Formats: sequence, structure tokens, C-alpha cells
Amino acid sequence: MNKNILVTGGLGYIGSHTCVELISAGYTPIILDDLSNCKESVHARIQTITQKNNIPFVRGDVCNRNLLDNIFSEYKPLAVMHFAGSKAVGESIQKPLLYYRNNLETTLSLLETMQNYNVKSFIFSSSATVYGEDNTPPLVEDMKTGSVTNPYGRTKYMIEEILKDLHIAEKDWSITILRYFNPVGADASAMIGEDPNGVPNNLMPYIAKVASGELSELKIFGNDYNTADGTGIRDYIHVTDLAKGHVAALEKKGEESGLHIYNLGTGNGLSVMEVLKSYQETSGVTIPYIITGRRDGDLAASYACADKARQELGWSAKKNIHDMTLDSWNWIKSGNS
Ligand code: NAD
Ligand code: UFG
Repeated sequence: MNKNILVTGGLGYIGSHTCVELISAGYTPIILDDLSNCKESVHARIQTITQKNNIPFVRGDVCNRNLLDNIFSEYKPLAVMHFAGSKAVGESIQKPLLYYRNNLETTLSLLETMQNYNVKSFIFSSSATVYGEDNTPPLVEDMKTGSVTNPYGRTKYMIEEILKDLHIAEKDWSITILRYFNPVGADASAMIGEDPNGVPNNLMPYIAKVASGELSELKIFGNDYNTADGTGIRDYIHVTDLAKGHVAALEKKGEESGLHIYNLGTGNGLSVMEVLKSYQETSGVTIPYIITGRRDGDLAASYACADKARQELGWSAKKNIHDMTLDSWNWIKSGNS
């Protein structure tokens, strides 16, 4: 029986871990990636981890309609997981048109092609950023969204609105919006992980590069927030848990029509200082840091209410901060990045 799932951005950080979990669950990911933010070698590593050869990889742009036609004709996917897109908040402020083009056009091209081929099961990578500044955590799926502060976040909000309109117009679609909190860590094999170009923007990859000696010190963006130790609080989730959340969503909701929205987080907030402390413990390295001013657009605290995914998908995050920092450190030390 065909168990093909089209995975756009499937060689990227979250997509690659999700491909591993899909294969482990008996699916065949059809990977479509233009290699704009990943390395082709990830394809071979996914196959090595899963000991499964012949996982299809197509190099190309999701906006290319002819290519999508070829893929849908050849592989007849049951569902689509859409990870491809541009994701750096700071860059989105500098290059808004690139972000609107890449994030919106990829999504619209896919949805229209799916309509043409009568494939109506869609899982979308959204972000906790859609909750914006107006909500107090724990963040719940039915809270008002949209008070986002940057073009990247607005693309996620706009795509969620497009998907809601599609659901209103065409009731036979199964649309699942997954709002990720802060994905970190790496596959336990240390063969795939987060591999950002240049200086990382996000906390965990930045700490990793300080721990490995590539960067000299961590800058903590503010210790005057209204939190226990004054540093920002986030809901860090191990990328393997996040990946398993996609398989749960596919299996529980993929054949059920409707629009479903789930937070994928642990439900627990951790401060920058707590993450730093854990990284020092697992790596055994002292990580130099300085406190600087707040970063524009940062919130004091953001963490999920994780109840809905647990109740409806039967999924919850299993790994703790020790697992996250350990797997991040093992990935950095492995030299595979
Ligand atoms: P990533 O950059 O590692 O992966 C995205 C992949 O998509 C890359 O491999 C890139 O080469 C590919 N890609 C980009 N544009 C493409 C296009 N037009 N055609 C084909 N391939 C294209 O990012 P990630 O961290 O794995 O994020 C995956 C998704 O999850 C993104 O949509 C992102 O916005 C979302 N998300 C990420 C985070 C996070 O913290 N990492 C948080 C919330 C949401
Ligand atoms: N931080 C530092 N120093 C750094 C980097 C981050 O102190 O060098 C702090 C931030 O101020 C924040 C926390 O560490 O308090 C986490 O910051 P990240 O940049 O790792 O993550 P964010 O929560 O700011 O943003 C991330 C993604 C967004 C996504 C959001 C919600 O970058 O794309 O999570 O999913 F929208």
C-alpha cells in the first residue's frame, strides 16, 4: 500500500528529524528541498539512521509548479508536510519581500497542486510566534492570534488565516496547523542536527558554538524581565519529540476532515540561565557569558499549554532539558555539522 508523504524542506532541521520518525513509523517521505538552507548529505544520513535505502529526494523549489506536477503524478502522496520556508526573524525584517514570497508562494503552490490532484491532507509548520505579545502564557490554541511583530511571524499568521479560509470553503480537507515552541537538540545518533549558516540567532546553537570554542561568549539579552532570575523564559522542545508529534498528527487527524490546531511544546518554561546551566553540566565546559540589553521584539515568557495535543493526538514531549543539551553537545562534538 502507498504510504508516501511529501515532505517539503525535508533536509532541513525539523524536516530531517521528521523524515526519520516517518520512516520508523512505516511511511516513505518524498523529500523536496532546494538546498537553500541545508546540505545534501543529510539525505544519505537519514537513510543511514533508518537503515532504509531508496528514500526519494527531489532537489527543487516548492514554487515550481511543473516540478510539483511531476512529483504528485509520480509518487501520489497521501499527505503533505510543509516545512520549506525562510525562518530567520532578523533577516525577515531586512528582506520582507523574500519572506512573503518564499513562505506564501510555496504554500499556495502546494495547496493548489494538492487541489488539482485531490490530495487533501496538509500539515503545516506554524510557530508560537503567532500568539504575539497580547497573550499571557500558558498559551492555548484558541487564544487570539495576529499581534506579531515581524514579517516572518506575519507569514505564519497569514498562512494560518489562508488555511482557515480554505477549510471554510472546502470541508473535505484535513488541515493540521502545528505551532512549534522552541525546537532544540539533535537526533540521538548525532548524525543530523541543527546546522545554521553563519552566527546563530537562537540560544541553543549559539551556546553550542561557545561551548565548542567557535564563539567567545554568550550574550544574554536582558536579565531585567519579570521572571524568577530576570532572563527570558521559553518552552524548549527536543526536535525528536517534535518530529514524533508530526507522525501523531498524521495518524490521528490525517484522514479526518477539518481544521486542527495544536501547540507542540512541553508545557514547561525554562530561563536562559537554566538552559546555560544545563549545557555546562552536560558538556562539562564553562561557558562565558555577558548580560547585554534586551533584544528588540523579545517577550519575557512564552510557553505552551500542551493539553490539547496530549488529549487529541495522544502525544506529549518525553525528553527533558538534559536530553536536549546532551544531544546538542553530542551533535556539535561529532563533527557531522
Ligand atoms: P530549516 O531552514 O532548517 O529547513 C527548511 C528547509 O526548507 C531547508 O532545508 C531549506 O533548504 C528548504 N527550503 C526553503 N525554501 C524552499 C523552497 N522554496 N523550496 C524548497 N525547499 C526550500 O528550518 P527548520 O528549523 O527545519 O524549520 C522548518 C519549518 O518550521 C519552517 O517553516 C519554520 O518556519 C518552522 N518553524 C521553525 C522553528 C524553529 O525554531 N526552528 C520554530 C517554529 C516554526
Ligand atoms: N537569547 C539570548 N542570547 C542569544 C540568543 C537568545 O539571551 O544569543 C535569549 C532570547 O532573548 C530568548 C531566549 O534566549 O529569551 C530564546 O531565544 P531564541 O532566539 O532561541 O528563540 P525565540 O523564542 O526568540 O524565537 C524562536 C524562533 C522563532 C519562533 C519562536 C517561537 O527563532 O522563529 O521561537 O517558535 F517564532
